[in-house]
Amino acid sequence: MAVPDFFSAILLYILIPVDIGYNVSLVVDQARHLSSHSWEYGTAAEALLELYDPNLSIFGPEPFPGGQVPDVDWTKVNALSYVKPFILTNNETLIDGDGAVGDPASLGVSAVMIGQTDKTYFDAASREQNYVVNVAPRAWNDAISQRYNTPELWADFVYMAPPFLAYYAVATANTSLLRLTIQQCGLYRQILQANMTTTTQKNMQGIWEHIIGPNDYQPGLWSTGNGWAAAGMTRVLATTLKWEISASWTPEQQLLTQWIKEIIDGIMEGSATSIEPSSGLLRNYLNATSWFGETSGTALISSVVYRMAILVPDIFGQGSIYITWAEKLRKSIVAHVDANGILSPAINPLSWDDDTPYTTGSPEGQSFGVLLAAAYRDWNYLD
Ligand SMILES: *[C@@H]1O[C@H](CO)[C@@H](O)[C@H](O)[C@H]1NC(C)=O
Ligand SMILES: *[C@@H]1O[C@H](CO)[C@@H](O)[C@H](O)[C@H]1NC(C)=O
Ligand SMILES: *[C@@H]1O[C@H](CO)[C@@H](O)[C@H](O)[C@H]1NC(C)=O
Ligand SMILES: *[C@@H]1O[C@H](CO)[C@@H](O)[C@H](O)[C@H]1NC(C)=O
Ligand SMILES: *[C@@H]1O[C@H](CO)[C@@H](O)[C@H](O)[C@H]1NC(C)=O
Ligand SMILES: *[C@@H]1O[C@H](CO)[C@@H](O)[C@H](O)[C@H]1NC(C)=O
Repeated sequence: MAVPDFFSAILLYILIPVDIGYNVSLVVDQARHLSSHSWEYGTAAEALLELYDPNLSIFGPEPFPGGQVPDVDWTKVNALSYVKPFILTNNETLIDGDGAVGDPASLGVSAVMIGQTDKTYFDAASREQNYVVNVAPRAWNDAISQRYNTPELWADFVYMAPPFLAYYAVATANTSLLRLTIQQCGLYRQILQANMTTTTQKNMQGIWEHIIGPNDYQPGLWSTGNGWAAAGMTRVLATTLKWEISASWTPEQQLLTQWIKEIIDGIMEGSATSIEPSSGLLRNYLNATSWFGETSGTALISSVVYRMAILVPDIFGQGSIYITWAEKLRKSIVAHVDANGILSPAINPLSWDDDTPYTTGSPEGQSFGVLLAAAYRDWNYLD
């Protein structure tokens, strides 16, 4: 698995701006203004980092110079100055997660980065790590619960906690924690991956269900949920590839790649059903033709393909069926960004079975539009 040569592309990077087809500044402004929940802040921070400071994000060429998390001046990093006011330094978790284990951890990468120069933030990240790994309940297979009152798995968790745990593992040079993080992705897959062998949509094998627990059971194949899972594992994969200690962990990298690919393959092979033809967008529930095509899941899932094209070019790179497919989805997104930078129609981010299209701006959906723009830009320079 080759890590591309960013340095030879750095001149291009400076000289030729990539036009994704919509005004990213407007999309980013909406993401900042609309976000008001823990995971929305965390996701917006990640989007800002990938957009404005690609060299600091785990998708950059050398995110861990000398094998370490870099020392940065947080006042000069857009993502960090944005998210810092939301981070609690006097609590067990980084922010109130409203009963969620994973969501507060989505601010964890930022807390670790700020923590390199302000120890109170590193200590806060340490407490968050301990809470997720040692305090939260576990499912029957040892998967960390997304809810603190009962063992319950949500696909969303995979974007919120594992990327932070992996980053924290690098910050503390803890290979056991990085292995545990990769295992957790597999344990989530073990429970959430749908068994489609008896349905009419056998070609959609690989896609994940949304929520499985004793209190809440939502087996629908939610587009955004699959995006959360695939994008979270992509961040863990990038971290593993780019930390000098884990760069040689080929079996683990192959597993993560397989788990991400299964999701993409399922959605892609099911395109006749998963894509709503008039909009060209992925349906909110991928296997249900009654659902409208929507922008949030489409933007996040297509961003994963561009990231994977850079990380694992042999499978996902230029000329692959994956890139051709992602290009179609990206063009559908371009056609669904309005003059105010709103991606629409989105799914209601607080009620994912609400069949009224959400047109006033989904906070997470806006961040996905930014993640897509950053991934597309980097792919243009690097692939
Ligand atoms: C994008 O939007 C920003 C903010 O409103 C504006 O300043 C900029 O000129 C726009 N860029 C383009 C290319 O339209
Ligand atoms: C940023 O880029 C430079 C090269 O331009 C590199 O030496 C450095 O390690 C990179 N990474 C970080 C996290 O600063
Ligand atoms: C503080 O952490 C606890 C977990 O120990 C969490 O339940 C609570 O929501 C947090 N408080 C705030 C204000 O975020
Ligand atoms: C590394 O992480 C593992 C798994 O959470 C933990 O058991 C161990 O104590 C950690 N090691 C150090 C040195 O913190
Ligand atoms: C999927 O369902 C089929 C039919 O019920 C069953 O035979 C098979 O073992 C299941 N596969 C998994 C991985 O659970
Ligand atoms: C879609 O797949 C889920 C998960 O297997 C299943 O529960 C649901 O019934 C399927 N929906 C349709 C319309 O086939």
